[in-house]
Amino acid sequence: MAYKPFDLSGKVALVTGGNRGIGLGMAVALAQSGADIAIWGSNDDNNARAAAQLKETGVQVYTRKVNVANEQEVVDGIGETVAALGRIDSVFANAGVGYGAPSFLDISTEIYRKTLAVNLDGVFWTLRESARHMVERAKTGDVGGSLVGMASLAAIEGAARNEAYAATKGAVISMIKSVAVEFARYGVRANSILPGWIATDMTAGAQGSTAFAEKVIPRVPARRWGQPADFGGVAVYLASDASSYHSGDSFVIDGGYTIF
Ligand SMILES: NC(=O)c1ccc[n+]([C@@H]2O[C@H](COP(=O)([O-])OP(=O)(O)OC[C@H]3O[C@@H](n4cnc5c(N)ncnc54)[C@H](OP(=O)(O)O)[C@@H]3O)[C@@H](O)[C@H]2O)c1
Repeated sequence: MAYKPFDLSGKVALVTGGNRGIGLGMAVALAQSGADIAIWGSNDDNNARAAAQLKETGVQVYTRKVNVANEQEVVDGIGETVAALGRIDSVFANAGVGYGAPSFLDISTEIYRKTLAVNLDGVFWTLRESARHMVERAKTGDVGGSLVGMASLAAIEGAARNEAYAATKGAVISMIKSVAVEFARYGVRANSILPGWIATDMTAGAQGSTAFAEKVIPRVPARRWGQPADFGGVAVYLASDASSYHSGDSFVIDGGYTIF
């Protein structure tokens, strides 16, 4: 009999911030592997564009306008997603924002709070509500689930001028480890992903910078920017039964940048 753990038929994956960038890269691979997909974003046009692309794979696609920085919208979002697709097997808490600043000295309290609201509160509420759903399911005998937090190299490297962002990403790794231990008894695993330099809207400024092209990208052993599609493999693995016993880990996807 063939080994086919990466066939996600019958499973449902939720990707927050799944309408563009890394989130869409993961959602496309999950859909191509047969999972029904829910994507959340705060912009209806972005959601509609991504939904059209995802539907080409033939799976069920559910999109919802959810601002993850709003607790009630996240609570309602999980309820409505389960109502629409029947269940949620894997959740990628990926929605995030990054605000550039010339220095730590220039990061206002307003920007600090806005960064925490999306990158930390949003992940906290998304994971908590998803865990509630998975525990309820487990109590009926339907055990299992995969929770994924999108962190960043900023969590483990000194990310100058990015103190607020770095703090949220370090917190995601810590939160995921707590979740991994608490919910293992329900068959739920939890892991984080740490992307390196990835070409998305978030890094548009760096992609246009000559200094960056001359000094940073040559230090990436893979000698290129990462692409959203580079996150398809890890997403499918984490959504699949192949990762059933893999929990509390951090996946660095950076073309070798951190070890060079
Ligand atoms: N790009 C990189 O180099 C890099 C490196 C390390 C980590 N990351 C992390 O990877 C994740 C994805 O980043 P990306 O580069 O793909 O960014 P991106 O292209 O800017 O996409 C961000 C996504 O998050 C959604 N989003 C933003 N605020 C939201 C909110 N309040 N509620 C719901 N959705 C929201 C956006 O959708 P709407 O616009 O529709 O709201 C969009 O889908 C983020 O957590 C980021 O911190 C990125």
